Amino acid sequence: MRILVIGSGGREHALVWKIAQSKLVDKIFCAPGNGGIAQIAECLDLKADDIFGLLDFARKERIDLTVVGPEVALSLGIVDEFGKAGLKIFGPNKLAAHLEASKVFAKELMAKYNVPTANFKVFDNPEAALKYITINGAPCVVKADGLASGKGVVVAQTVSEAKIAVTAMMQDKVFGDAGKRIIIEECLVGQEVSILIITDSQAVRLLASAQDHKRIFDQDQGANTGGMGAYSPAPIVTESVLKEVLEKIVYRTLDGLNKEGIIYRGVLYAGVMLTKDGPKCLEFNVRFGDPETQVILPRLKTDLVEVMLAASEGKLAKIKKLDWDPRACVCVVCASGGYPGAYINDQEISGLEEASGLKGVIIFHAGTKKVAGKIFTNGGRVLGVTGLGVGIKAALGLTYEAVAKIKFNKMHYRKDIAQKVLIE
Ligand code: AMP
Ligand code: GLY
Repeated sequence: MRILVIGSGGREHALVWKIAQSKLVDKIFCAPGNGGIAQIAECLDLKADDIFGLLDFARKERIDLTVVGPEVALSLGIVDEFGKAGLKIFGPNKLAAHLEASKVFAKELMAKYNVPTANFKVFDNPEAALKYITINGAPCVVKADGLASGKGVVVAQTVSEAKIAVTAMMQDKVFGDAGKRIIIEECLVGQEVSILIITDSQAVRLLASAQDHKRIFDQDQGANTGGMGAYSPAPIVTESVLKEVLEKIVYRTLDGLNKEGIIYRGVLYAGVMLTKDGPKCLEFNVRFGDPETQVILPRLKTDLVEVMLAASEGKLAKIKKLDWDPRACVCVVCASGGYPGAYINDQEISGLEEASGLKGVIIFHAGTKKVAGKIFTNGGRVLGVTGLGVGIKAALGLTYEAVAKIKFNKMHYRKDIAQKVLIE
């Protein structure tokens, strides 16, 4: 088979790495890819949201299956366009992708189908939103309705922070139309976990649990990022927690979508807060998580291509329960200093070969490029250094041993990935 993967981050490197192990696969393309992906796939000069360019390429190159990494192409309807052209593609269609592209849509669906989530109110009008904050106080969470590259959520500890967020989103339009409508919701407290499943809207296959680290600095300090590290499995997701998440969040949502006439095919990622009143859904993503994918896929023994193909054809029921490596997996993200704010690119990276030579270590590239045989930084999140070990402690030790071998100017990484698990 000829596979096209869309995207350029660590998640896409992990996808390409896993797809390359499938006996079904002869050739992999990645649009646009990165310096690490280029070592195992042919990278294309096509942007991840250039739907018609990608469609043209898939037609000409007789691509058998396209796998979409990031949410933007999904929300623009890439799956609908490929479907019309008779091309197989793994991911939800435009309507189903609303679950991530519109937080109002997601929250209203959750409310309608009794999915536990934070209490919320939707606002189209800034004055009404500001008045609501004056009356109800803080803490509260202010969310832009539309896609805002992961920056559209402000967990406000004070009334003034909440009001600043409302003004920025609705009046200063910092996220453009994505902030025309906002949600103000109750602030939940607890540990956050990522539960991902693959579905064809009828059958569901569960992926291993994972936990992400969203803040830039140790002890969860500083700005929110795309994710600075992850580990799988998440020990806090016990059998009974998982059962509750599946029953109350995942199945109710899929059932609701089916009742609304929306066929959901692809990965469904539920961001869940484990509160003292039980699991509550914070948000849905309609794609694999980043960096969760970097710790989930190294543990997956089943052929991912068979699963994605079956899901895209509506035949997921024929796939058995997924098979997992019992080892733990940890990923530490090495970022450019300054990220998620301003940072510099084009710094040469050294130590990659030495680090990836350690047994059980895989280095997923996120923001890199290859120039004249050398690898340079090319993004905020640069590498996802990943290690597999018997238990989290062993996986962690190995991962940090690998990180210590890697160097680039202004490299920043968190030193406390998965520490929560060791303390408990
Ligand atoms: P979202 O894009 O909705 O996942 O929000 C980004 C991050 O904001 C989440 O991963 C949480 O850490 C935080 N967050 C979102 N909603 C809430 C909430 N209701 N209470 C507390 N934290 C939240
Ligand atoms: N790790 C969070 C996300 O992929 O959105």
